[in-house]
Amino acid sequence: MKEKMILGVTGSVGAISLVNYVSILSDYYNIDLILTKNATAFVQPKGLDTFINNYYNKEFKSCYPLHIELAKTASVFLLLPASANTISKMAHGIADNLLTSTLLAYENPVYIAANMNPLMWNNPVFQDNIKYLKSKGHIFINESKMAREACTGEDVYSDACMPSFDNLLKILKK
Ligand SMILES: Cc1cc2nc3c(=O)[nH]c(=O)nc-3n(C[C@H](O)[C@H](O)[C@H](O)COP(=O)(O)O)c2cc1C
Repeated sequence: MKEKMILGVTGSVGAISLVNYVSILSDYYNIDLILTKNATAFVQPKGLDTFINNYYNKEFKSCYPLHIELAKTASVFLLLPASANTISKMAHGIADNLLTSTLLAYENPVYIAANMNPLMWNNPVFQDNIKYLKSKGHIFINESKMAREACTGEDVYSDACMPSFDNLLKILKK
């Protein structure tokens, strides 16, 4: 039986390649997908249905504590792509949507594929947030390489690129 994964998706440009990651991860995991509201500006989950278990993009429905159920039942929690915003909220224990509430309730290390412009990544406040999360055992899986800058089209060196499929599976021990 496949392990259960929560895949948290945030408003980073890397979300446009989500379907490729989900199709590969679904070979190994039953995936519950949580998209933030801002993630839905980059990716619409239509077409992912065949690869995932459940899909959530609403904050909270009724008074059922979905965030607690999701946090308790997942054996792997992957944030891909992880925005600077959600990573920073996580570092400060902020729980203001379904994804961040589930993160706060999750008791094990989270795999975090940080994905953002180098200006955001290199911000000293953000670097402190990353150091803090690493000190709590969370695992960063972003990669360093030359990448096309989304707005200017320039090639820039970036430490916060999406992981290759091979590296992602290796880190997840698959
Ligand atoms: C066109 C555009 C591209 C963006 N790309 C990124 C990105 O790659 N990484 C990032 O951390 N934030 C990026 N942002 C900013 C986030 O979308 C913003 O911080 C948002 O609040 C993230 O919300 P979330 O963490 O709840 O998904 C981008 C914003 C826009 C308008």
